[in-house]
Amino acid sequence: MIDPIEHWDIHPQHSWLRGVQPEQPVVFDEEVGMWHVYGYAEALAIINDPATYSSGVASRFAPKEQTDIAFDGNLSQADPPEHKHLRKLVSRTFTHKMVANMESRIHDLTNELLDEVSGDRFDLVEVLAYPLPVIVICDLLGLPLSDMELLKGWGDQNLEARGQLTVRGGGDEYERRLDYQAESALEMGFYLLEHVGDRRTTPRDDLLTKLVEADVDGQRLTDRQIVNFANLLLFAGHITTTMLLGNTILCLDTFAEADERVRKDRSLVPTLVEESLRYLTPLAANYRTTTRDVELGGKRIREGEVLMVWLSAANRDPSAFDDPHAFDVARDPNPHLGFGRGIHFCLGAPLARLEGRVALNILFDRFPELRTDPEKPPTFLTPPDFTGVWSLPLQASR
Ligand code: HEM
Repeated sequence: MIDPIEHWDIHPQHSWLRGVQPEQPVVFDEEVGMWHVYGYAEALAIINDPATYSSGVASRFAPKEQTDIAFDGNLSQADPPEHKHLRKLVSRTFTHKMVANMESRIHDLTNELLDEVSGDRFDLVEVLAYPLPVIVICDLLGLPLSDMELLKGWGDQNLEARGQLTVRGGGDEYERRLDYQAESALEMGFYLLEHVGDRRTTPRDDLLTKLVEADVDGQRLTDRQIVNFANLLLFAGHITTTMLLGNTILCLDTFAEADERVRKDRSLVPTLVEESLRYLTPLAANYRTTTRDVELGGKRIREGEVLMVWLSAANRDPSAFDDPHAFDVARDPNPHLGFGRGIHFCLGAPLARLEGRVALNILFDRFPELRTDPEKPPTFLTPPDFTGVWSLPLQASR
């Protein structure tokens, strides 16, 4: 059987997606000046030990004056004890109950978006997988849907600018990309700042207001921290879920038996979502830097080195998963690292799972068959640390 990786030649350089696990779990890359970590046990050792492996790594890739402003309040870059404090503050606002309350809205939205489909050909990303998560985040934050195009423009600019990161200094082209990325973050920052200011004077029933009012032991978030957190939610919360939905349909297109099985037995949709996250891990890698000299995977790593932790390779490691290259919609247990692990475990995982479950069930209800369009192949996001579709033209039967 030809799987989606080979069929669409997804990330040719990622050998583990083609059944070839790198020989060594930890390898230094001279060109970019970073360590690649491929093994499951090694990846877990890193993400479960924030004291040794710090998340505050952005300043290694971009000028510190840019990152100090852009990452203040950004949970994903914070270490304990600051991380604990920030996470406590935002967890008070971004609760399981709030997410669960979104179920009927996600249901209605998915149907409304799919009502727009006329004919039997459509691009799943354009019609559903992109707008659904963005509208949900905008709803939660309290941002007007009329600004979606504006947000899409900034999001696209950010994506366009992304490429292989390096700690070596990447020359003019690398800096041009960083500047382009910083420009979109700054413009979006000013936009969000206006909304934060507005919530300080006119509170509403939305997440931005809750963030403005959040208080842990008398400490509150600053405007800049709220802006940066909202920025993280807008970015982390939409492009990843877009990939999840698209990747799942792409896998079902190639694995016909899995498609048939899950359509017949909808109780498998939750395990299908988890298997999709394992098999085509949207956030393929995260980054850490060492706070002391360590030994990992038989290699000596000095303090201050940067590691690229390949969650997607760990998710195919045969020491952690039976038959790791099989797409098994009923895989259980499935201890994949698609949402990370430890203190930085994805805050939005319950929302992403809910969106995945609701949207996939509705797609199965409305379209007995969904196939890739032979005349229009899908396109994929190009940054090496993302694995996911960027467009997914489909042919449907109703
Ligand atoms: C963290 C993946 C959806 C918000 C993470 C991490 C991963 C991840 C791997 C850990 C990063 C690290 O260890 O450095 C995903 C995937 C998603 C998804 C694959 C969809 C399929 C969402 C959504 C939201 C969100 C919907 C919010 C609405 C966050 C936040 C963090 C995070 C705020 C940082 C948590 C922390 O550092 O404490 N995500 N995510 N994510 N994610 Fe997600």
